[in-house]
Amino acid sequence: MPAIVVLGAQWGDEGKGKITDLLAREADAVVRYQGGHNAGHTVQVGESQYKLHLVPSGVFHKGTICLLGNGMVIDLPALVREIDGLEASGVDTSRLYISNAAHLILPYHQVLDAKDEDSRGADHIGTTRRGIGPAYSDKVNRLGIRMGDLKNEKRFRELLEANRRNKEGSLASVALDWDAMARDYLGCYQRLADRVIDVGHRVSSLIRAGAKVLLEGAQGTFLDLDHGTYPFVTSSNPTAGGACVGTGIGPTLIDGVLGVVKAYTTRVGAGPFPTELTDRLGDLLVDRGHEFGTTTGRRRRCGWLDTFMLRYAARINGLSSLAITKLDVLDSLDPIQVCSGYEVDGELLDSYPEDLATLRRVVPRYESFAGWKSSTSQVREYGQLPPLARTYLDGISRLTGVSVSLVSVGPDRSATMVTADPWRVR
Ligand code: GDP
Ligand code: IMO
Ligand code: MG
Repeated sequence: MPAIVVLGAQWGDEGKGKITDLLAREADAVVRYQGGHNAGHTVQVGESQYKLHLVPSGVFHKGTICLLGNGMVIDLPALVREIDGLEASGVDTSRLYISNAAHLILPYHQVLDAKDEDSRGADHIGTTRRGIGPAYSDKVNRLGIRMGDLKNEKRFRELLEANRRNKEGSLASVALDWDAMARDYLGCYQRLADRVIDVGHRVSSLIRAGAKVLLEGAQGTFLDLDHGTYPFVTSSNPTAGGACVGTGIGPTLIDGVLGVVKAYTTRVGAGPFPTELTDRLGDLLVDRGHEFGTTTGRRRRCGWLDTFMLRYAARINGLSSLAITKLDVLDSLDPIQVCSGYEVDGELLDSYPEDLATLRRVVPRYESFAGWKSSTSQVREYGQLPPLARTYLDGISRLTGVSVSLVSVGPDRSATMVTADPWRVR
């Protein structure tokens, strides 16, 4: 039985939450493999809308186990609040498990995130200020504190003290109550202690026993620390390779990679965005697509779909198929532009630029598509989509070299057309 990765092919907020929730209906387990509560995944279940930050988007299905992998960074009080919020709305979270090896975000990471951002001035990244970068820095610097360290109070306090000493200089002007911090985290741990497990062992056992497993990425390919638009990226690996490292399974256990793609492009925070629309068309996409961040409420920058980016995403992730979301947002636009390549000094580039200086100079080359100018939000069968909408989808497939297996025309589960079984497409 298959294990597939569901990940963002752009700069995040592609609708991964919706697509993961939809596929999770058939899944035995959903594993988040990187990131932390910088993620914001909106899932609509009937009349109710939920915003998930740390909890995997499989939590709304009774038979599905949800796991937080070792590749995540977890703000433990934030996790407890999220669980309590879900339980208060009647969502059962008893099948949630957390990796021993996931790293903790502590309050000082958030202080450092804000200080880093402020010190960059005009070059700020526009982080979510959730402490993501500093927590991963401590992990890489071998100073990080992991979930399993909370099992032993003495050990946890020693590690916290080592961090206090290490950060004395950078936190000199900040009043932090380290003892209250320790008590808070130990208290949260007590509530979740029996769910802290070896996630890699559990997931590989499940897959070998024939279970269907979804590996859920947060953020997106172009926010990847190694392959994104560095330094305007997050500090983890949302790309498919990160799914192995961040879960604790080998690549031969993975059968496919579904790239979630918004029918246009958005970005939150700073950094290059070649197809950005800063005119009224951009405002129109913000309005129609309700493009405000789930986590920080920030207005998302909007622009045309960029298939040159998607070709790169297909290569980096080995995408087996695409889920195109928010097609309905384009319903009234005519014409619709799609970027098919980048030019620098009049020359077409043959691969996505790895350096910021080149990326800042690119001029997108566009292919124009006629708009369908009718509502798609009620369409439930691919064949019933306006012919021009199908031409647009075929164009995406042609320009990216990847087939489309899902098309979404609204936030609700029912507003989805499955054209090929994403569990089986390779
Ligand atoms: P994620 O971070 O990738 O899970 O995406 P977000 O949840 O941050 O942002 C996607 C937003 O678009 C959410 O508010 C979804 O409810 C919404 N959404 C998802 N698919 C569709 C769609 O096909 N059409 C419309 N109009 N909204 C959608
Ligand atoms: P989901 O999972 C969109 C962006 C931030 C900032 C950069 C670094 O909902 O798609 P960080 O706090 O991670 O150090 O910020 O990454 N960013 C996201 N943008 N969607 C997200 O998550 C994001 N998570 C982080 O805006 O530009
Ligand atoms: Mg989001």
